[in-house]
Amino acid sequence: MASLKTIITLLVLCVPLIQAAATADWRSRSIYQVVTDRFARTDNSVTAPCDTGAGLYCGGSFQGIINRLDYIQNLGFSAIWISPVTYQIPEITADLSAYHGYWQQDMYRVNPFFGTVADLLSLSNALHSRNMYLMFDVVANHLAYAGNGNTVPDWTRFNPFNDPKYFHPFKLLSSDPYNATCAQVCWLGDLTVSLPDLKSEDPIVASMLNTWITELVSNYSVDGLRIDSIFNMNPNFFPGFNQAAGVFCLGEGSTNLASSLCPLSTELDGLINYPMYYSITNAFKSTSANISTLVDGMNSVQSQCRDVTAMGLFSENHDLPRFASNNGDIALARNVLAFDLLGDGIPVIYYGAEQHLSGAYNPANREALWLTGYSMTSTSLPSLVQSLNRLRAHAVNMSTPGCDYLTSISVPIYTGTNTLALLKGFDGNQVVTVLTNLGSNPGSSPDEQITLGGAKTNFTAQEALTEVLSCTSVVTDGSGNLQVTLNDGGPKVYYPSAGLAGSNLCGYS
Ligand SMILES: *[C@@H]1O[C@H](CO)[C@@H](O)[C@H](O)[C@H]1NC(C)=O
Ligand SMILES: *[C@@H]1O[C@H](CO)[C@@H](O)[C@H](O)[C@H]1NC(C)=O
Ligand SMILES: *[C@@H]1O[C@H](CO)[C@@H](O)[C@H](O)[C@H]1NC(C)=O
Ligand SMILES: *[C@@H]1O[C@H](CO)[C@@H](O)[C@H](O)[C@H]1NC(C)=O
Ligand SMILES: *[C@@H]1O[C@H](CO)[C@@H](O)[C@H](O)[C@H]1NC(C)=O
Repeated sequence: MASLKTIITLLVLCVPLIQAAATADWRSRSIYQVVTDRFARTDNSVTAPCDTGAGLYCGGSFQGIINRLDYIQNLGFSAIWISPVTYQIPEITADLSAYHGYWQQDMYRVNPFFGTVADLLSLSNALHSRNMYLMFDVVANHLAYAGNGNTVPDWTRFNPFNDPKYFHPFKLLSSDPYNATCAQVCWLGDLTVSLPDLKSEDPIVASMLNTWITELVSNYSVDGLRIDSIFNMNPNFFPGFNQAAGVFCLGEGSTNLASSLCPLSTELDGLINYPMYYSITNAFKSTSANISTLVDGMNSVQSQCRDVTAMGLFSENHDLPRFASNNGDIALARNVLAFDLLGDGIPVIYYGAEQHLSGAYNPANREALWLTGYSMTSTSLPSLVQSLNRLRAHAVNMSTPGCDYLTSISVPIYTGTNTLALLKGFDGNQVVTVLTNLGSNPGSSPDEQITLGGAKTNFTAQEALTEVLSCTSVVTDGSGNLQVTLNDGGPKVYYPSAGLAGSNLCGYS
């Protein structure tokens, strides 16, 4: 007879481990942000037209995403964030249509333009069978009404909030934009499409939202949430909502100030790192920008937010002009992506950044990705993203107790006007990332050729390193110093060659 202990062990092993994904699980992930309507179509078309300016549905779908998971996974991503999935206003308005997903009316129905409940479940299953995570974008701040001038919504269109008692009274935030109270209680949107603002401070409304999110997460086995418009809600609402979700929550509020954002870092698991977005953009927007603004931004967020390593690091999204709309230099784009993927935090790469898409303000920045053919060789960017994701995953894998790559904080080891070198990790598992805004055709600059002292990198004398983006082998000098030349516009990323086995980089299988 098997011993009791064996039986108990077997029982324990056989209990399916359905565990909600928490902050520690998400920290190691790399997120690809998908605008569902614009990423991929069910019919796999790479020619179906999509006029971004017209703002109509272009045919992207849940099944389309499933069809292209190989592409996302091959780029090295381990999670996707998709557009809000709920049922939207059906109207085509002067403010265009609801293809983006931020104009919900029925929180219990799936947007039929994206697919069915079964399709969404299939997407969740397809991701999980690849050990990838699914992040839902959710809107708890408002519903939407296409009133075309009529300020009284047809409340019966809303589910479950089908009565004015659940909402703040009509007043557009745009009519009183600098009023802090109004920011929380007024309506977003305009007279064409108004966004009736939920009373999230009302316990009944909060409880209905909490019930909804518990069900939504459970029904689709969602691993994490991105929460829209947190500056427009009562901050006391979030801890309860985060707990009801039971999974990692990343709050989104647009600001360039860490001092505005960071107070919310104690209310939610994580935040989208908007202040760093501004620092990144300012550091790389031109060859005459000062890259030290990146260090200022890092210090500012690091010192004011609860945990920068649980924040979403990004340089593009659906609300902002794409990086390449401001500057088309591919070397600058490469440096931006290197910082996004190797900086402190959870990388969030907006679909199409890897294809160097250049749409500016909304709606131009929601291009149909299928028109790029999902090429891995269109520019150098897809393979760059793949290498950076692989290196990050490898450094995570090489972490040892007490020496965790993900919770280590980057240390600037060279800061010039045009070049910045960062050290992240620990001896033997240290990543040295050299970023520059000199661009593809650097003139002569003291920052084009730099020496990183061995005392700062902790590289040893005559240590063999690999520059993992070009797969070039280099050796430090007798004092451990490393010479870095940036005449191609960078970036450069160095890692000890002795530790590359298993990385799937540069021939190390
Ligand atoms: C700010 O907005 C709130 C909500 O609409 C309003 O009650 C209040 O009077 C406004 N404050 C000022 C100074 O106008
Ligand atoms: C979750 O699924 C149950 C059972 O099908 C359904 O009654 C409920 O409305 C669903 N909730 C959401 C938020 O989709
Ligand atoms: C992590 O290490 C394990 C075991 O050494 C290996 O099987 C796996 O492929 C590695 N993963 C990465 C991303 O390096
Ligand atoms: C760049 O900024 C740093 C820090 O603010 C400053 O020390 C440096 O002089 C600046 N460089 C130029 C060329 O203005
Ligand atoms: C660098 O090396 C020094 C001396 O060996 C050691 O004390 C320090 O912990 C190392 N730094 C890192 C980040 O591993």
